[in-house]
Amino acid sequence: MPVLELRHVTKRFGGLTAVDDVTFGVEEGELLGIAGPNGSGKSTLFNVVTGIPFGASSGEILFDGKPITRMVSHRIARLGLARTFQKDAEYPDLTAKETIALAAIYGRGLNRRAAAEAAETQLEAAGIGCARAGMLTTALSVYERKQLMIASALVMQPKVLMLDEPASGLTRPEIAALNAHLVKINKGGVTILLIEHVLSLLLSLAERLIVLNQGAVLAEGDPQEVIRDERVIEAYLGGRSA
Ligand SMILES: Nc1ncnc2c1ncn2[C@@H]1O[C@H](COP(=O)(O)OP(=O)(O)O)[C@@H](O)[C@H]1O
Ligand SMILES: [Mg+2]
Repeated sequence: MPVLELRHVTKRFGGLTAVDDVTFGVEEGELLGIAGPNGSGKSTLFNVVTGIPFGASSGEILFDGKPITRMVSHRIARLGLARTFQKDAEYPDLTAKETIALAAIYGRGLNRRAAAEAAETQLEAAGIGCARAGMLTTALSVYERKQLMIASALVMQPKVLMLDEPASGLTRPEIAALNAHLVKINKGGVTILLIEHVLSLLLSLAERLIVLNQGAVLAEGDPQEVIRDERVIEAYLGGRSA
């Protein structure tokens, strides 16, 4: 049984169908890559699955075989589905440690003290030292903010982690470090869905690749085969030459 299953999931914004009849399953322990041109519905797909900030217009989403389609977002998080966002620094007034602690309260229902302790463990794993942990998130480097966002998701102890372009804005050495970090998280038993524009990272990590175009699944399968698919090349180049 897949840990996450989408059946005919659709999201409409007025006349625009941002996610169009998407059906696929994710096996436990898998690292699934998701690609597609800008505006193809990747982030919206993550939004409707996690319910943050909105759910699907139609279709069904199952987590561990149970429907979560219309569940409120913190309940989805507490079942074990956590995400990061394409844009970071959600809470400019909080320190790094407070940001992770807040995620632990929201996504795990911990009390303040337990949340603070859990935050310390995650800060250490993310390589954010004591001095940086007390700084406002806005004072951190781009790389630290990305790590902070991943740590905020991991503090929820998710079974499934959904990452929306975690490598954007990072340098090559930082991407290499992120790569190693994601391998470790995945080997630790966390299923990962990875949206990524940095193709080298995506191809290095993904065991399977889904390509979206105009909200619909265009291609799916072995990453090396999928990126050579003529329809996929056309979708990327078509957007550029248009
Ligand atoms: N909250 C929203 N309201 C209206 N349209 C939206 C909203 N979010 C996304 N869209 C539209 O849905 C489409 C898919 O966007 P998005 O999921 O962000 O694409 P991607 O992440 O693949 O770049 C785009 O046309 C975008 O403008
Ligand atoms: Mg996006």
